[in-house]
Amino acid sequence: MELPPALREAVEEVLAGVAVPALAEAAERLSQRYRAELRDGRWHVADELAAQAYLATRLPATYAAIRASLGQVALAAPDFAPQSLLDVGAGPGSAWWAASDCWPGLHGPRGSARLIEGSPAMRGIGQRLLALAAPDAGQIHWQAADLLAGLPDLAPHDLVTLAYVQGELASPAREALLARLWALTAGTLLLVEPGTPAGWQRLMQARSQLLAAGASLLAPCPHAADCPIVVPDWCHFSRKVARSRLHRLVKRADVPWEDEKFCYLAVARQPASAAITAKITARVLAAPHAASGRVSLKLCQSDGSAMLRLFTKREGEVYKSARRLDWGDGM
Ligand SMILES: C[S@@+](CC[C@H](N)C(=O)[O-])C[C@H]1O[C@@H](n2cnc3c(N)ncnc32)[C@H](O)[C@@H]1O
Repeated sequence: MELPPALREAVEEVLAGVAVPALAEAAERLSQRYRAELRDGRWHVADELAAQAYLATRLPATYAAIRASLGQVALAAPDFAPQSLLDVGAGPGSAWWAASDCWPGLHGPRGSARLIEGSPAMRGIGQRLLALAAPDAGQIHWQAADLLAGLPDLAPHDLVTLAYVQGELASPAREALLARLWALTAGTLLLVEPGTPAGWQRLMQARSQLLAAGASLLAPCPHAADCPIVVPDWCHFSRKVARSRLHRLVKRADVPWEDEKFCYLAVARQPASAAITAKITARVLAAPHAASGRVSLKLCQSDGSAMLRLFTKREGEVYKSARRLDWGDGM
């Protein structure tokens, strides 16, 4: 997956002339802070250089994870066409770009978005990207707020997103924020986290909290029973993300792509479309293993169980459909 062309060009423009060694150092500092899940009261992205490092090394991956998750939301709820987005911990606007790619109405004159972000450096770079790549976008309001202090007064929005943020918040602020975000969700709430065991645990806590609050699961879970995945395993997905030349230089990497592992949870006020939920009876939880005449899929199933299922050529059409499935697909 790649960034939309206009956004890619804007990122290139913003990064033009930035010294690669400085960017590489800033990217390494950022990566260490994210990996350690440091919560020391300082912004991970505290200055312009750190924001530029985020654009070079993280935006393509977080965009890909959010876009892939929204793609599953669109399949589960084909009638959902959000006109308003509330994105919290917006960073450089990743979720707005992904959501308006999925639902172009968000980009149009009737679309509106409120992007809440604490770091001034992130807000600055996000505003610059929008001015360069989407000057004609509808009403987009950036708002400064500290999520730990609670959100300001806001109206409900059709789509609410919280992507790659929960790791920066300690409990119980995280639970309080989730409760508030659910109250502000008119249609769908999407949570995205890094595809690590810790990211998955946070989503499992959020899943319990949101189900208890009356939310309907849209994706990825094909059921609302207890999650059948048992530690040390964890539920996560993967997207191949194209690396720009600058990204390769900054990461000192030769390979022109990377695998972004992520987990997500999408819940809605309305239950998923009956027609579609009837079709999605399982979710593929790992890369398929295929051999001549057979394919093995790790599945989470609508009866609440998870299993490795082997499909063989003798099963005809069922085998042919299984063969076409990829990690993350519903079947
Ligand atoms: C890893 S970035 C994710 C950005 C974007 N959502 C994405 O997926 O690319 C987390 C963002 O949350 C913001 N953030 C973290 N804690 C916050 C807080 N307490 N108040 C406001 N923003 C916060 C950070 O400044 C950062 O921009």
